[in-house]
Amino acid sequence: MYRSHTCGELRISDVNKQVTLAGWVQRSRKMGGMTFIDLRDRYGITQLVFNEELNAELCERANRLGREFVIQIEGTVNERFSKNSHIATGDIEIIVSELNVLNSSLTPPFTIEENTDGGDDIRMKYRYLDLRRTNVRSNLELRHKMTIEVRKYLDEKGFIEVETPILVGSTPEGARDFVVPSRMNPGQFYALPQSPQTLKQLLMVSGFDRYFQIAKCFRDEDLRADRQPEFTQIDCEMSFVEQDDIINLFEGMAKYLFKTIRGVELTEPFLRMPWADAMKYYGSDKPDLRFGMKFVELMDVMKGYGFSVFDHAAYVGGICAEGAASFTRKQLDALTDFVKRPQIGAKGMVYARVEADGSVKSSVDKFYSQEVLQEMKSAFDAKPGDLILILSGDDVMKTRKQLCELRLEMGNQLGLRDKNQFALLWIVDFPMFEWSEEEGRLMAMHHPFTHPKDEDISLLDTDPAAVRADAYDMVCNGIEVGGGSIRIHDAQLQAKMFEILGFTPEKAQEQFGFLMNAFKYGAPPHGGLAYGLDRWVSIFAGLDSIRDCIAFPKNNSGRDVMLDAPSSIDQKQLDELNLIVEIKE
Ligand code: AMO
Repeated sequence: MYRSHTCGELRISDVNKQVTLAGWVQRSRKMGGMTFIDLRDRYGITQLVFNEELNAELCERANRLGREFVIQIEGTVNERFSKNSHIATGDIEIIVSELNVLNSSLTPPFTIEENTDGGDDIRMKYRYLDLRRTNVRSNLELRHKMTIEVRKYLDEKGFIEVETPILVGSTPEGARDFVVPSRMNPGQFYALPQSPQTLKQLLMVSGFDRYFQIAKCFRDEDLRADRQPEFTQIDCEMSFVEQDDIINLFEGMAKYLFKTIRGVELTEPFLRMPWADAMKYYGSDKPDLRFGMKFVELMDVMKGYGFSVFDHAAYVGGICAEGAASFTRKQLDALTDFVKRPQIGAKGMVYARVEADGSVKSSVDKFYSQEVLQEMKSAFDAKPGDLILILSGDDVMKTRKQLCELRLEMGNQLGLRDKNQFALLWIVDFPMFEWSEEEGRLMAMHHPFTHPKDEDISLLDTDPAAVRADAYDMVCNGIEVGGGSIRIHDAQLQAKMFEILGFTPEKAQEQFGFLMNAFKYGAPPHGGLAYGLDRWVSIFAGLDSIRDCIAFPKNNSGRDVMLDAPSSIDQKQLDELNLIVEIKE
């Protein structure tokens, strides 16, 4: 028997028990004739004591143990003289009588403790050591618990889990694919699925009216804190449902997860905000509603007074930060620099403080009378002590997005984005299409299988850009945690959609023939949704990046620095694949 207990298990009630423990040496301290060792395993840390007076030879061997040695000990549980309230086993220690070294260890490249001295790169290179740290491991434990709860919830609602292939065909219209060359089909490539979208729709045609899968998805996109090239979706699809049925069921799942994982009871129905309102009032399709600062448009109030920046702008609008009039000139200059950064791209920022007497002092006082400034103040419903920040620009959407960045930054600076507060909502009524400058054509905003709103179908021929979709996203704290839609189940409407997206009938047949053909054999009305599992876990764990809840993540250049992947492959492998590699400059 390697161990009778784990390192997180023993309590004061176990005093005098003979126990056997096994684990890793976290650290060792020599104090006088005593050696103390913290023994760690997945479950916790237990203090071991070696007493020179009782057993000099044993103590001498303990002194030679290095960090991360794997040992097994036998000993007696003893009540600790100076207790440690920070750990669950802090009331006891083990007086060791036998020591067995199971394996030695090199000195690890960083300290394996909650607060490590290891930077990101070194921790990722030695991720297997990083995963020994309690805080990293607990993120994976939370992830495990979440997937169990997800499976429980969905199983109870009659969903069945079906696996779909990882080697599939390329998906036009999505993000960039990762591709895999086929040895048996020279010159041909599989693609890794960006999501099981079309396959789950085919499962609906097959009659699996409630499908789910905890599915790996792959997208060759630029990476951010909430984006990995391979990530996991809780992917679901249902037949014979309408948008409300799906929204209600998955809102129920979100509430269930909050309750079981975080102990947070969300009783109110989630807000449903039309996409157009989200853009108008927050400049984003994933507004962070943990705080206010809703946009106020000022075109009617501020144009026409000789301030040419506003006079020539297509959009003038701002936010009001409660109680922030005390921001210094230096802070305001820093905010101006913030919005002028190339990633944000604003030309400048106008600010106005509401003074204690209610008067308004602005950075553009010379153009505006106090009367106009008061009108502006009323538009924001601003109070003495408030700070108003205004941006303008000649592109309405771009300026709103800049104002969104400013709003989020103010939220950060004012401490309004508390990780223990949760603001959930649905964004609904997305536009069906968006214009792509790059492609010079309309692209599907969600994906080409999304059903247009019935009342907008007549606009498909006349004004496709105005067509709204039966599509919805769930947003939590400014992060898109899921999205889905009602699908087209009619081959003719699907063909029309491809036409609007610029596919010739031949091309549509070539790329999506399998789906359109399937729809000719009795496709039920259906729809679904996918939650981003990594994002959910990172929100529940209060993480800044989804990387921290993935066992072996990629870095920002899409590399696995531990496996050193991607890498070149042998000539022999290339030959087998009939590939010649030539790197273009
Ligand atoms: P969508 O592309 O919106 O929809 O993806 C669903 C959810 O997956 C998460 N997500 C990601 N998480 C981490 N890294 C990424 N690179 C990444 N990309 C997306 C997000 C997102 O909300 N097939 C459709 C769903 C459907 O219509 O049913 C789909 O994939 O949380």
